[in-house]
Amino acid sequence: MFARPIPMRAVFIILGAIALVACGANDKRGMRQPKPSAAPTAPDAPAEPEAEPNAPPVLGSQSPAPADKQRSVEVTNKRVQAGKALYATCVGCHGDNAVGRIGIGPRISSETYMAAASDAFLMDTIAKGRAGTTMPAWGTSLSDDQIASLVAYLRSLHPSEPAKLDHTPAQGNVANGRAVFRDICSGCHGRHGAGYQETANGTGIGRKAFLDTAPDGFIRYIVKHGKTLTQMKGFDEKDRTAVANLSDKQVNDTIAYLRANAW
Ligand code: HEC
Ligand code: HEC
Repeated sequence: MFARPIPMRAVFIILGAIALVACGANDKRGMRQPKPSAAPTAPDAPAEPEAEPNAPPVLGSQSPAPADKQRSVEVTNKRVQAGKALYATCVGCHGDNAVGRIGIGPRISSETYMAAASDAFLMDTIAKGRAGTTMPAWGTSLSDDQIASLVAYLRSLHPSEPAKLDHTPAQGNVANGRAVFRDICSGCHGRHGAGYQETANGTGIGRKAFLDTAPDGFIRYIVKHGKTLTQMKGFDEKDRTAVANLSDKQVNDTIAYLRANAW
């Protein structure tokens, strides 16, 4: 290619110039302002991860242990009345009778949801809130007893038998799960699973705040059977009315992806 052999000094100069250009490009990338796009992302959402099919899964979040007993709060009339009075602080976001207000507060009064949610999960969620979302942590202002009354009230709105949950740890292929999430779930739950903060109508299922309180068995049940009376339809492989049919393996892959990328 070259007529004469290139002197070593010239090689160093060329290499140096290449390195400088490369550094400059990196700097620019680091400083780039987020450009406005058609689908705004949550301000605190992490960068889109690179696809690494063979990378070992990073444990972003592990399934919390399922509750020993699905139901631990007694639904007495006294509790329900006390819970109903306390619910006045929730109604603005969750709506009358907890039917939800799309994009503001999720529906709680839903057959499959209440069947799958244990009392411990509901109490934990109310006490800790959902960090990063508008759901406050009520544990600082309400006692355990008051939170139990709220759960009794929520149960009274939609009495249901506890669902049979499959608590097998969801070990799956993170890369496959990422594809399922991107193709099917992200449209409603947001590209990073940030939920309402990504102008999506589904909740923030990619967040640690949700994943650290929701056991695999609960998530698996909702993904398969949906959340009745909401846009969250079931994805069971045998459900002929499902928008998409996901195999048990795909459901596990999706949960594994969510856990590996919890933020
Ligand atoms: C300022 C609005 C707001 C108020 C007030 C509020 N919540 Fe929430 N709540 C939310 C949002 C938003 C979420 C979903 C967050 C997410 O995960 O994306 C949520 C989630 C929940 C969930 C979990 C539902 C699910 O789909 O997983 C429960 C249970 C709940 N709230 C109960 C309560 C109770 C009980 C009160 C009153 C003591 C209350 N909330 C007050 C906004 C609110
Ligand atoms: C058509 C829109 C839509 C699609 C697609 C969708 N979801 Fe949902 N999802 C929702 C809505 C809406 C809710 C309930 C929010 C509410 O009650 O306001 C929900 C709730 C959930 C919940 C319960 C979370 C909670 O906070 O209670 C889980 C878990 C969930 N979805 C997982 C998934 C997974 C996994 C996928 C992809 C396989 C998926 N969803 C696809 C709309 C959708």
